[in-house]
Amino acid sequence: MLTKEQLQALKQTDTSQIYRLLAEAATTRDILFLLENLGHLPKAFNGYVFAPFLSHEASQVRYWAVKNIGKTTNRLLIPHLSQLARTDPDSTIRREAISAIGRMRLPEAIPTLIEHLDEHDPKVLLQVIRGLLVFRTQPNVQSALKSLANHPNEMIQSIIRREFSAAESANAPLDHAQSPAFMQNVVVNGDVQAVLPFVPDESIHLTFTSPPYYNARDYSIYESYSAYLDFLTRVFDQVHRVTKTGRFLIVNTSPIIIPRMSRAHASKRYPIPFDLHTRLVQIGWEFIDDIVWAKPESSVKNRNAGFLQHRKPLGYKPNAVTEYLMVYRKQTDKLLDWNMRQYSAEVIEASRVLGAYESSNIWRIDPTFDRVHSAVFPLELCNRVIRYYSYVGDLVFDPFGGSGTLGRAARDLDRHFFMVEKEPTYIERMREVFGTARFFDAQPVRFLSLEEFRDRGIS
Ligand SMILES: C[S@@+](CC[C@H](N)C(=O)[O-])C[C@H]1O[C@@H](n2cnc3c(N)ncnc32)[C@H](O)[C@@H]1O
Repeated sequence: MLTKEQLQALKQTDTSQIYRLLAEAATTRDILFLLENLGHLPKAFNGYVFAPFLSHEASQVRYWAVKNIGKTTNRLLIPHLSQLARTDPDSTIRREAISAIGRMRLPEAIPTLIEHLDEHDPKVLLQVIRGLLVFRTQPNVQSALKSLANHPNEMIQSIIRREFSAAESANAPLDHAQSPAFMQNVVVNGDVQAVLPFVPDESIHLTFTSPPYYNARDYSIYESYSAYLDFLTRVFDQVHRVTKTGRFLIVNTSPIIIPRMSRAHASKRYPIPFDLHTRLVQIGWEFIDDIVWAKPESSVKNRNAGFLQHRKPLGYKPNAVTEYLMVYRKQTDKLLDWNMRQYSAEVIEASRVLGAYESSNIWRIDPTFDRVHSAVFPLELCNRVIRYYSYVGDLVFDPFGGSGTLGRAARDLDRHFFMVEKEPTYIERMREVFGTARFFDAQPVRFLSLEEFRDRGIS
């Protein structure tokens, strides 16, 4: 048998010798030696000599035969490769066969590639798409590829959308780093469902909110748990519309307990973050992270008293010291790098998260108690969210503003805020909190009714 060097030399001087060697190679080992060591092939090399190996019993031989065919351009081999892509039991070989057809870059291969768009294996289908994208300007190729827009596999969907959907932010009224001036440092007193229709598309950079806790507190009365989830779904669907391309929504919730009516009844626990999650994903929020906010055990309601006494299994009730910060991104094919590139060098510099930061997804922060509002964010929680998920000058939004903690943090960190709160008592609390404070850009906070906000939005 030859050495690798001799084989390389023959390729340059006498390719017919190589055809002969391939035809005469008797053992799998000899065939593989030739196929694996051929390297780059001269332009005129006749790829057809590899065709007999496409039906060889050893998968390695079939694989290398396809690899070598992929280095040549012989339209007569397209039907053989197509057949292999349909029938080979090894999906790597099937993918290579399609890749070899694609690499020929022959318009004659288009009908064959289109036929393979019914391929079930996403890995193979991706190769078919890649081969066809070379001819993406041809109308028949375009319409064939677009038919995959609702393909069940999310990677396929994403590639097709990226290639063919009109630039998403083309409709955005403002540059990515900008936000509507009439919403900056504004608090609207109203039902968020009534306010959101007056918020323009793609105007918010970050939403961080703690929605009402179903019926666990007196300010939130819903007909049923599913009506409550429907309400939140409607709100977060609108939040999705008003959020800028690829920006974040962070929802703070935890499972809640509705206490039992009497000793004869059981209390009921509602897993809000988990039930809300599937709905958010359906709306188009891509799940990014779950951050756990851990509080000291001494700060939460003690549920242990009974178990401490009786110690009977099944009666165990852990003290709930955690809440979730579920992090979502408005689903897009644009990478985070795209979002970061939308800011000037000065803004990026001013927004850098310098010094110590929380590197894990467990954030240990003491809760804050407010004399007016029964469930407020600790300022530190808002500080972290704002610093990690927004840039200086961004517009951050809380649709359930409460006592306005997010706005305070935004003000301190040179971001703009927009908040909605339906209870006048809490609006009064916000007025107190903000007092006469001035902002980094000397813009005072404005408290508006729904009507005032609507009219400003139009003007
Ligand atoms: C959990 S609290 C938010 C507290 C806030 N994160 C803070 O730091 O003070 C939820 C707030 O949502 C408000 N709310 C409930 N339903 C609302 C609605 N439909 N529109 C606007 N605000 C609403 C409640 O009045 C309550 O203040």
